[in-house]
Amino acid sequence: MSILKIKNLSKEYQDGTKALKNVSLEINKGEIFALLGPNGAGKTTLINIVCGLVNPSGGEALIGGFDIIKQYRQARSLVSLVPQEIQLDPFITVEQTLEFARGFFGKSKKPELTKEILSGLSLLDKKDNRVNQLSGGMKRRVLIAKALMNEPAVLFLDEPTAGVDVELRRDMWKFIAKIKKQGTTIILTTHYLEEAESMADRIGIIDKGELKMIENKDVLMKKMGKKQLLISLKNTLDNLPSELKKDYICLSDDKQSLIVNYGNDFEFDVADLMQTLKNNNIVISDIVIKQSSLEDIFIDLINE
Ligand SMILES: Nc1ncnc2c1ncn2[C@@H]1O[C@H](COP(=O)(O)OP(=O)(O)O)[C@@H](O)[C@H]1O
Ligand SMILES: [Mg+2]
Repeated sequence: MSILKIKNLSKEYQDGTKALKNVSLEINKGEIFALLGPNGAGKTTLINIVCGLVNPSGGEALIGGFDIIKQYRQARSLVSLVPQEIQLDPFITVEQTLEFARGFFGKSKKPELTKEILSGLSLLDKKDNRVNQLSGGMKRRVLIAKALMNEPAVLFLDEPTAGVDVELRRDMWKFIAKIKKQGTTIILTTHYLEEAESMADRIGIIDKGELKMIENKDVLMKKMGKKQLLISLKNTLDNLPSELKKDYICLSDDKQSLIVNYGNDFEFDVADLMQTLKNNNIVISDIVIKQSSLEDIFIDLINE
């Protein structure tokens, strides 16, 4: 069942920048969806429109069946946004931050919820600390905690780990998995492939305001997981020996190296290959593994 329906959404900013071009997308209840794309792709614009912070130029979006413009209040009450920039009042305590947020969402006090969220994000022992006494990582967790005080059906996280160190990033992924388990639908934006890979059920790739593809993570990772083994040869080789005539092996144009294509969905026996080379008196001078980068993948997708 879908909780968010986006139809032909477009955005042209006042200076003429076309940030979104006819984006359509449906998000299922309870899933983690990652919107993956380079800087300037339109990720923030998309989620800001859905959260009611930016007006669309065209198209529509429904959250839980409510139109984000015509039924603004109902739609807005179902979502929370964790912005990329840390915006917190430094001089109040962590607990107060959460309680005020609850009020701001127009919902009645619920101390047991505050406690549950604090404990879920390992912030319980910091509840009486002022925000300015917290480390950057804790501030990020407070930001998520604050958003959760709305008990949102859909939680938007805009680049939740941009500029966060690797260890903290892993912790954050764990927290987000925990929130999902409680039934919350999560939509996050990221420009880290690894982040989308480790968290998302589905991944949407956006570039220059266009949604290039939407795919189940597993399927996409297989496509992305293409690797090449480049075996440089001591001497040029005119022809592949018959034992090496396989559809995943080829000789480079300069006949100076062998290229073996493999990946997540296809493995080959390296030892076997080495033995075959040896048996044919083919001497290796170097071996390099090349893996497609996110950049390559974008280029591939755009050219497809
Ligand atoms: N307020 C604005 N006015 C004009 N252009 C904007 C504004 N906000 C974003 N843009 C432009 O819209 C495009 C998409 O930006 P954004 O949605 O922030 O991308 P992302 O979050 O993927 O990095 C970029 O070209 C950006 O410069
Ligand atoms: Mg952004």
